[in-house]
Amino acid sequence: MKHNLDLAGRHVLITGGAGGIGAATARISVGLGARVSLVDVVDAGGLVAELRAAGGDAVAHVADVADRAAVERVAAAAGPVDAVVANAGICPHDDWTADDWEDAFHRVMDVNVLGTLNCARAFLPPMYQRKRGRFVVIGSLSGRAGRLMAHDQAAHYIASKAGVHALVKWLARRSAPHGILVNGIAPGPTRTAAFTNANPDLSAYPLGRMGDPEEIAWPIAFLLSERASYICGAMLDVNGGNYMP
Ligand SMILES: NC(=O)c1ccc[n+]([C@@H]2O[C@H](COP(=O)([O-])OP(=O)(O)OC[C@H]3O[C@@H](n4cnc5c(N)ncnc54)[C@H](O)[C@@H]3O)[C@@H](O)[C@H]2O)c1
Repeated sequence: MKHNLDLAGRHVLITGGAGGIGAATARISVGLGARVSLVDVVDAGGLVAELRAAGGDAVAHVADVADRAAVERVAAAAGPVDAVVANAGICPHDDWTADDWEDAFHRVMDVNVLGTLNCARAFLPPMYQRKRGRFVVIGSLSGRAGRLMAHDQAAHYIASKAGVHALVKWLARRSAPHGILVNGIAPGPTRTAAFTNANPDLSAYPLGRMGDPEEIAWPIAFLLSERASYICGAMLDVNGGNYMP
């Protein structure tokens, strides 16, 4: 009997797919047999070339998820999609006493919250028609705990991630009757470009280390797989024990 994860024949679309957790998800999905579409504000052509050289099927789309028309264009170009990983997110470190803080607030909300909804609006209705699909939203420990690990700024990011956690439940209830499963992952501190300059006090971390992108991507792949057929509206905490609700 075969018990391995398997995404053979699935078309998985990953936003923020050029780097970090998104790129790790792309590599693992292709390794499990999926073809992937990578959506990013930067060109993911290098990763596409790597995946194709390894025998995989991948394409890149340059688009800003905060731009609904751009997301709709990607949906038209990509064709039928079996699963979406709404992973694109930003966390500009900030100072909420600054005069221009609202600009950062609006951009974070546009990318993290509206961007997730733009993807839901573009990709869920076609899944409803086909009566199958998965939609995985990448939240954050910070939205669960109301804090970042390393500092006490980024109120915009924390609010945005708490917002998408609530949206996971809203989208899951709306989508379940159509046979579509919507779930979320709330990563803890993970070694990606977003944390290039971070130097956290690892002695405060239960496992004494940050996570690697692959350690977030494998649970994402699980949620995309048939093995997760009864998980609906869940937030999966993948944080190395840094937050235990
Ligand atoms: N790294 C962590 O510690 C951590 C912890 C919790 C949650 N997260 C979340 O995981 C997700 C991935 O983060 P990461 O650490 O891999 O970051 P990253 O910066 O390494 O990668 C994010 C990717 O998203 C792309 N992107 C940014 N804005 C975009 C937009 N408007 N439209 C399309 N693409 C856009 C970037 O170009 C980049 O390729 C984010 O939602 C982030 O909030 C990360």
